[in-house]
Amino acid sequence: MPAVDSALDLLDRIYSSEDFDRMSAIWQQAMGHHFQQVLAGDTRVLNWTEPADAVALAESLMAGGTATADRGERFESLLTQMLRSGHNLHHSGYIGHQVPANAPIAGLFDAVGSMTNQPMAVYEMGPWATAVEHAIVRAMCRKVGWDPEQSTGVLTHGGSLANLTALLTARNVVFPDSWRNGTPDNAVLISQSDAHYCVARSAGILGLGTKRILAVDVDDQRRMCPERLERVLQQARDDGQQPLAVVACACATPIGAFDPLDRIADVCEQYQVWLHVDAAHGGAALMSRQHRGLLRGVERADSVVWDAHKMMFVPALCAAVLLKNREHRFHTFEQDAPYLFDPDNPGMAEYDNGVRTVECTKRSLGFGLWGMWSLYGDEVFERLVDRVFDRCRFAWQTVCDDERFESLHEPDCNILVFRYLPESLRAAAPDLVNAVQRKIRAALIRSGDFYIVQTTIAGQVCLRMCFMNPATTEQKVASALQNIAELGEQFAAEAMDAD
Ligand SMILES: Cc1ncc(COP(=O)(O)O)c(C=O)c1O
Repeated sequence: MPAVDSALDLLDRIYSSEDFDRMSAIWQQAMGHHFQQVLAGDTRVLNWTEPADAVALAESLMAGGTATADRGERFESLLTQMLRSGHNLHHSGYIGHQVPANAPIAGLFDAVGSMTNQPMAVYEMGPWATAVEHAIVRAMCRKVGWDPEQSTGVLTHGGSLANLTALLTARNVVFPDSWRNGTPDNAVLISQSDAHYCVARSAGILGLGTKRILAVDVDDQRRMCPERLERVLQQARDDGQQPLAVVACACATPIGAFDPLDRIADVCEQYQVWLHVDAAHGGAALMSRQHRGLLRGVERADSVVWDAHKMMFVPALCAAVLLKNREHRFHTFEQDAPYLFDPDNPGMAEYDNGVRTVECTKRSLGFGLWGMWSLYGDEVFERLVDRVFDRCRFAWQTVCDDERFESLHEPDCNILVFRYLPESLRAAAPDLVNAVQRKIRAALIRSGDFYIVQTTIAGQVCLRMCFMNPATTEQKVASALQNIAELGEQFAAEAMDAD
């Protein structure tokens, strides 16, 4: 291969089937080796590099391409660099954010979209991607408990965009002139106080303003309290305010608490308010016979958001916005784009998904989920959900049985929030206790053996585990907790000495 290719040679080459075969063989070998190592636990979980150093390395590699003699070798070395520098979510010590160790098979299906580019503003540009999306939405609507002929939905790039899309639909249905005239001055959004920050963001984007969010306080288990919701709605009515929607969570992010949807739906019905359920994280519990009761009443919602790139174990991103009433499918947006949407063929609007999403060009978001679902059926999702819920329960029981820890809650799902709090720290100053938790986490993740996160609840810094990898065994959980206790003992002693 010449050191510097002519433009024509280069273009011929990058589209040649020989190059594709050669490069994909290299790719397969590198990925196979990587997975083998990660699954065997022979790597670190997080390969921590200072961000500025990582940027400098990425930049320097970009500068080295043109002088390369053997592009196969270079491809291999770039792949190795990518894999070596990433976060190994498939390592059994990964118990971190609500992002899964995706099923690799879903990645393979997803890759078809990356290789063949099937974007979907209009059906004819991504016919199979669109078909898959519709099939997925229908299946998810069924799981929610809706008739797919009466309900509808779209996939978006993530739960944040999905919540915005659902709330925009609610706004346009509740205030029919608002697409042209903007959100009325007396509109308010009523939200569970622990709702994900994207709900507040949506209020900002919708021109409502975050000041017009009326937060409904959670109870001692951090669930939205229906009685408080009723009081907020009554007060809003007395003040002449008009609710855009009530946002309930299934579950809320901090500790994974599921709101009592049935009772919330009663209140919403009584006040005739749009009920939106953010089930970005917990929607997948609908796949489990054991756990679907957590979402009892979800079928009474007007809109639901459910992320498949969380507990359905597909790669990011694949989020669904589901609407109970099919008649609302064209209420989210109003636009005129004759170069895209053919006014002489109105039936195609059902399939030209760009009419219904923020995105114009949109990735073929459903390939991974559709492929996995078609290959393994419902069972694979049920097994995954049950497994990670089980592991969380095991962790909670271990924490409860060990007097060095304090659990902040009994977990509803796969999220556990707790603190290292032995007898010796119980009377210590809150700042000192908080500092110990922070140090534990920092040391733990830098060790490369485990990855967990931290959060702050009512001023208390806590350790947070989210079980998103079916390979995290009970033994691994016990070992993580033992490491945490050992680190905690060391940092607590240092902090007390310095105090
Ligand atoms: C309850 C909830 N809603 C929405 C989101 C946002 O989803 P995404 O990260 O896909 O934008 C999250 C993310 O963790 C979440 O937990």
